[in-house]
Amino acid sequence: MAGDSILICLIAGWGSALADTREQGEITRFFGDFSLRPVAREDLPTLMEIESQVSPFPWTAKQFSDSIKGHQGVVLVKSDEIVSYLFFYRILDQAELLNIAVAPDFQGHGLGSRLLKYCLDQLREYTQHLHLEVRASNFPAIALYLRNGFKQVGERRGYYRDGDSSEDALLMVFDFHETGSLA
Ligand SMILES: CC(C)(COP(=O)(O)OP(=O)(O)OC[C@H]1O[C@@H](n2cnc3c(N)ncnc32)[C@H](O)[C@@H]1OP(=O)(O)O)[C@@H](O)C(=O)NCCC(=O)NCCS
Repeated sequence: MAGDSILICLIAGWGSALADTREQGEITRFFGDFSLRPVAREDLPTLMEIESQVSPFPWTAKQFSDSIKGHQGVVLVKSDEIVSYLFFYRILDQAELLNIAVAPDFQGHGLGSRLLKYCLDQLREYTQHLHLEVRASNFPAIALYLRNGFKQVGERRGYYRDGDSSEDALLMVFDFHETGSLA
């Protein structure tokens, strides 16, 4: 893609710049037309709206609220519109990717990939493993993770439940020692 090398250069400085600005409570670094900032309580309705469009087992308001309070969350914004979000947390040297989503109109343009790389960069220094669960039939997400160095390490039967429907989860792990240089 023609603009890719420019985008890659911008992204290269993204992680460290974000770490600096996070301390000031606001993220101002821009990536093309997009900016990344910490998630805020006021974002909840928009997050739930996007979540309902992209997930058959959407997070509840409580899950979002708990994560906004207790975990690391960022939103990607274009012209004041949230187009993507990411939640993760770290305990000691282990981390979990809790949720990542791109609004339907913005999927397939590399945003998910870039947000995932941002997450890996945030964790790289102090983390051994980044864990996640993904629906067994969620092929776009599984492809995204495999492409970025995750490996499948297990399965959880009926992990996702909503009323009568349920779906298995694949457990995947990114090993920073083994694959850290790939991402
Ligand atoms: C999964 C998701 C975050 C990917 O975001 P995205 O911005 O569309 O993905 P990107 O454009 O960065 O694509 C990155 C890679 O993901 C994979 N991918 C993305 N969309 C795909 C699709 N429709 N089919 C197959 N692979 C796909 C590909 O490997 C792609 O790399 P490539 O284009 O070089 O082949 C997005 O599809 C989404 O929000 N899905 C709904 C929410 C969700 O399932 N989240 C994961 C919860 S575990």
